[in-house]
Amino acid sequence: MNDRTQRLVRKLKADQLPALMVTDANNRRYLSGFSGSAGTCVVTYEEAYLLTDFRYTDQATQQAPDYQVITYKKGLQEGLSQLLEDLEVDQVGFEADDVTYRTYSNLCDELGDIEWAPTSGIIEKLRQVKDDEEVQIIREAAQIADEAFEEILPSVRPGRTESEVALDLEFCMRRLGAEELAFGLIVASGVRSSLPHGRASEKVIGEGEFVTFDYGAAYCGYCSDATRTVITGEPTEKQREVYDTVLRAQKAAVEFIEPGRTGEEVDRVARDIIAEAGYGDNFGHGLGHGVGLAVHEGPRLSQQNGDTELAPGMVVTVEPGIYISGWGGVRIEDLVMVTEDGAEVLTSPTKDLVVQKG
Ligand code: GLY
Ligand code: MN
Ligand code: MN
Repeated sequence: MNDRTQRLVRKLKADQLPALMVTDANNRRYLSGFSGSAGTCVVTYEEAYLLTDFRYTDQATQQAPDYQVITYKKGLQEGLSQLLEDLEVDQVGFEADDVTYRTYSNLCDELGDIEWAPTSGIIEKLRQVKDDEEVQIIREAAQIADEAFEEILPSVRPGRTESEVALDLEFCMRRLGAEELAFGLIVASGVRSSLPHGRASEKVIGEGEFVTFDYGAAYCGYCSDATRTVITGEPTEKQREVYDTVLRAQKAAVEFIEPGRTGEEVDRVARDIIAEAGYGDNFGHGLGHGVGLAVHEGPRLSQQNGDTELAPGMVVTVEPGIYISGWGGVRIEDLVMVTEDGAEVLTSPTKDLVVQKG
């Protein structure tokens, strides 16, 4: 059994749960190494199995050497019932955040002798602290994305559309080694920059506009996540004030990060600075989130569900913003790793306001 699966088994023992069925794609990959699109892990105290279909038998065998690969022919249900009968377990946990009601009903109908126990967040919690290999991959994902952003930045100018520069960025990330985008690119200019998640549109970038880029690369299954806001002309006094407020909040929160502090406390540092400047109502989302196999995972840096204490090896974003409807907005986001005594920033482009002239 590999390390990650052993950690899971310790947790299952503590919870007195004799087996867990793992269906979530990221959790399955995290435990077994298998990256295919169809597969279900079953982990007991003694053994770890990976059920999949014909398309993935060879891939699963190669990628998941610590798992016994079972190829089902008629469907997962059939494979599961055979395995669980052989294992003689009477209770199996399932991932309540991933299993649909339909699948749950089928399991109850067809494997009704088993008690199906809902679980939530067991493996997600293990995933929060990254090991050295994971940190290295995330570091490389961030480098690919940043290098691409810096390469296309000179071509961001009035007259081009958001979609055009987004395509440049995507192409550049792929050329530099990204498997795919970590999420749909956000390129939001002018009034659209007040949309926290303004996906790149056909809007033409104008002069003197903020342009927010929120971009991330997927690399070896892991994600990066970063945001920079640039401006296409000399900033007005108000644009400068809003930008500087977000920047001060962002830097203060990064500075404040250290093991033992909670996500809620870190969020508070940035939120207070923005509120004192008079923009409290314009910062309506949490400060950040964990990043790994999923672009959004635990821990949360937020006033909601932000009670997790930060620990070395966690990788989180710090991304305050000010969004003023009908005017525009600014967000600055770094990817940050919690270290033994503070934080290391993994994002490299400058956070000084970049002025892109036409
Ligand atoms: N890219 C989405 C986010 O920053 O959360
Ligand atoms: Mn982002
Ligand atoms: Mn983010």
